Amino acid sequence: MSDKKTLFSAVQPSGIPTIGNYVGAISNFVKLQDEYNCIYSIADLHCLTVRQDPASLRKATQELLALYIACGVDPEKSIMFVQSHVPAHAELTWVLNTMTYPGELNRMTQYKDKSRSHADNVNIGLMDYPVLMASDILLYNTAVVPIGADQKQHIELTRDLAIRFNSRYSDTFVVPEPIIPKYGARIMSLADPTKKMSKSDENVNAFVSMYDDTDTIIRKFKRAVTDSDTKIYFDPENKAGISNLLTIYSVFSGVSIEDAVKEFDGKGYGDFKIKVGEAVAEGLKPISDKRLALLKDKAYLDGIMVKGAESAFRIARKTLSKVYRKVGLYSPER
Ligand code: TYM
Repeated sequence: MSDKKTLFSAVQPSGIPTIGNYVGAISNFVKLQDEYNCIYSIADLHCLTVRQDPASLRKATQELLALYIACGVDPEKSIMFVQSHVPAHAELTWVLNTMTYPGELNRMTQYKDKSRSHADNVNIGLMDYPVLMASDILLYNTAVVPIGADQKQHIELTRDLAIRFNSRYSDTFVVPEPIIPKYGARIMSLADPTKKMSKSDENVNAFVSMYDDTDTIIRKFKRAVTDSDTKIYFDPENKAGISNLLTIYSVFSGVSIEDAVKEFDGKGYGDFKIKVGEAVAEGLKPISDKRLALLKDKAYLDGIMVKGAESAFRIARKTLSKVYRKVGLYSPER
C-alpha cells in the first residue's frame, strides 16, 4: 500500500439503496478514490440487527457490490469486501464491548429510532450496532470515514473508543475523522421533507431507489411534497422540500445550488420537479445499465469479493493481533 491515508466506509445491504445513500455516501466513495487508500465494505452483519429474509439478504449483498462498481468504485483501486467474510470485525467487537458502557449506546439516536420502529425485536445487536461499526473502522487504521449526517454520532463513539483504548493500553488505533458532504448529507423524504429519506420507509413515494426506472423516478418527483409558496430558493429551514430538491438536482446535474436557483428563477414548481426527476433519471440510467450487466457475471463479482476479503483480512488480522496482545490474550509460539 502507498503512503496515502486510509479511508473506510460501508453500506448495509438491507433493502434497495436510495439516492440518499448515493448522494450522502456512495458518490463520495467514487470521488475520494484517488486521494486515499479506500476500503469499502458491505455491512451484512449490521443487517442482522433487524429481521431479514435470508434469501433477500444474500441477493442484496451481491447487488450492492454490483452497485458500488456500477457507480464507479474501481476494484483495481479500492478494496471491496463483505463484512462477514472477515471474522476480525466480530472479534474486535467483543473486545470493544468490554470497554463500552450501556449509557453510551442507549442514547444513540439511531438506536432510539430503530427501537421504536422495530418494537417487537429490540435485541442486544441493535444496541451494540455502533460498536461493530467502530470495529469496522478501527481495524484498518482508518483516517477518514465518508458518511451521511445520520452516522456522525457513531463516528464520535468510534473516536471515544479509540482514544479510550489508546490511553488504557498504548497507542494502537488511529482516531478517525468523518467526511460529511456540505450539501446532501441528509437527503429528505419526498413525502415529508422534515424526515430523512430512508429505504425502509413504508411509503414507496417517499424515496427514490437506485433501481427505480425512469418513469417511476419522474412520477415520484412530480408528487414530491413542497410548500404553498411559489418561489424557488435554498432555505432548508423554511423551505425543506424545495431545498431538498435543489440539493438533489445539484448533485445529479453537476450544477451548483446557486446556479440551479438562477436557472429556476421565475419557473413554477411543476416544471422544476420534472427537471429534477429528469436529471436524476439521466444520472441513474448508466448506473442501472452497468449494474444489470455486472449481475449477469456472478463469477466476476464473486472473484472481487474473495480478493477483497483476502486483502481486508490481512490488514484486519494485524490490528486484531496487536489488540489481543495488548489486552493480555496469550498467543502460543507456532
Ligand atoms: P446505511 O446503510 O444506513 O447508509 C449508508 C450510507 O448512506 C448514508 N445515508 C444518507 N445520506 C444522505 N441522506 C440520506 N437520506 C441518507 N440515508 C443514508 C449514511 O449516512 C451512510 O453513510 N451503519 C452504517 C453502515 C456502516 C458503516 C460502517 C459506515 C457499517 N459500518 C463503518 C461507515 C463506516 C449504515 O447503516 O449506513
